[in-house]
Amino acid sequence: MRQKWTSKIGIILAVAGSAVGLGNFLRFPSQAAANGGGAFMIPYFISFFLLGIPLMWIEWAIGRYGGLFGHGTAPLIFNRLWQNRASKYFGAIGVFGPLAIFIYYIYIESWLLGYSFYSLKGTFLHLSSQTETVDFLHKYQGVTTKNLFLITYIFFILTFIINFTIIYKGIKGGIERLCKLALPLLFIFAVIIAIRVLTLGAPIKEHLDWSIANGFGFLWNPDFSALLNAKVWLAAAGQIFFTLSVGIGVIITYASYLSKGDDIVLSGLTASSLNAFAEVILGGSIIIPLAFAFFGGSGAQEIARSGSFNIGFVSMPLIFSKINYGMIFSFMWFFLLFLAGLTSSISLIEPAVAFLSDDFGISRKKAVSILGTLSFLICQFPIFFLARGVVDEIDFWAGSFFLVVFAFIECILFVWIFGIDKAWNEIHHGAELNIPRFYKFIIKYITPLFLIFILGFWFFQQAIPTFFLKGVAKENIPYVLATRAGLLILFVVIATLVRKAHGRRFKVKK
Ligand code: ALA
Repeated sequence: MRQKWTSKIGIILAVAGSAVGLGNFLRFPSQAAANGGGAFMIPYFISFFLLGIPLMWIEWAIGRYGGLFGHGTAPLIFNRLWQNRASKYFGAIGVFGPLAIFIYYIYIESWLLGYSFYSLKGTFLHLSSQTETVDFLHKYQGVTTKNLFLITYIFFILTFIINFTIIYKGIKGGIERLCKLALPLLFIFAVIIAIRVLTLGAPIKEHLDWSIANGFGFLWNPDFSALLNAKVWLAAAGQIFFTLSVGIGVIITYASYLSKGDDIVLSGLTASSLNAFAEVILGGSIIIPLAFAFFGGSGAQEIARSGSFNIGFVSMPLIFSKINYGMIFSFMWFFLLFLAGLTSSISLIEPAVAFLSDDFGISRKKAVSILGTLSFLICQFPIFFLARGVVDEIDFWAGSFFLVVFAFIECILFVWIFGIDKAWNEIHHGAELNIPRFYKFIIKYITPLFLIFILGFWFFQQAIPTFFLKGVAKENIPYVLATRAGLLILFVVIATLVRKAHGRRFKVKK
């Protein structure tokens, strides 16, 4: 008997938990600041309505549909939608992608737990420049010296154990329970920090124009000329994928634990809206206005451009060291990010667990033990070769490129092969809200066309140069190639298992 969600709020918070993550608080503000400020919100919301919401509904519907046959992951669900030999292999991306992202995501997540600890210890109060916070981060990562690395590794093991304990406890006792606690808590922490930011005024006496209000102006004043640049549109669409966790396969798995009569229209919309609130209102009110207030316009610009995730680890400890009760705010910041990361990482491992237990008939506990051992071993690679471009390489293929490929495939399978009328009925089954009819047109034509445009553009702009190792330092090339080979092996192993699972499930049916 497959597990089920026990409440509507449980599944909504679980999907919102998967969506709300580092993308909301770190990636979004830096993308917005670097891509036209307020003008970025135009492609952002267009992508939200034309890509994000339709894909969200498609994934909820595909997942619930597959769950009725006892499938929890894309390979055999795709096969139900399109009885063709190839479909299950396309679906293999929905197990491979999340697992590959998990391998590095959990390591970054463990830094947040470590930084929460160092916040309470008061370590950051002694750092007085960005050079020092960068130095600390490198020490923590074991890049420059191994002095702190034992502690880093202990936090990694702790984070790993927390993740697998939750997964081990299952849908109701693990994921649903955690999300019901963690989501409200992280929202409370984020609101407290946002209020503190809003009431900060101009904290640097020598620069009264570096005020929080001007920081908001810096972030949101629209530069409409940015809209003529295709890269800005691509950045907005990429952010929508990343932040909503669509195109990965995790929502399909979560939705497979629904019952046939459960609503998905309103629930999907609610989860997406919670994510948008966390991103635009809360994420947009913290890091960039703060960076502006402490480092001025050019400093904030530089920080925004310095890479999406660094911004949290490098600038924030320094900023909090200059605020009253900074230790507490710093703890809240890193711990809220840790919770946001945790509710996302458990969703990344769940498809692989569901795949093994649903399609091979082994118990959940055994599936968790197998995956725990395997993923622990694979995680050592990004941990020990972090500075060698390994994480960026995995992130590009599993966390960017395949998301769009997978989204395109699921959209075509559901809307064009399964058929838009059946798809529309499937989405509306048990719905507590009717989707306006023009959305049928959007889902059938606009969403796939938009995806083709993005795929084409990404292929030429990013995939080809990345494939030919453009910009990779010479000494890192062997590591990047080894990462690629590792990913390929992982995909081949999963595809082989998919083939076995297909034989097994469909033989049993005959
Ligand atoms: N959706 C998750 C995030 O925004 C992956 O971090």
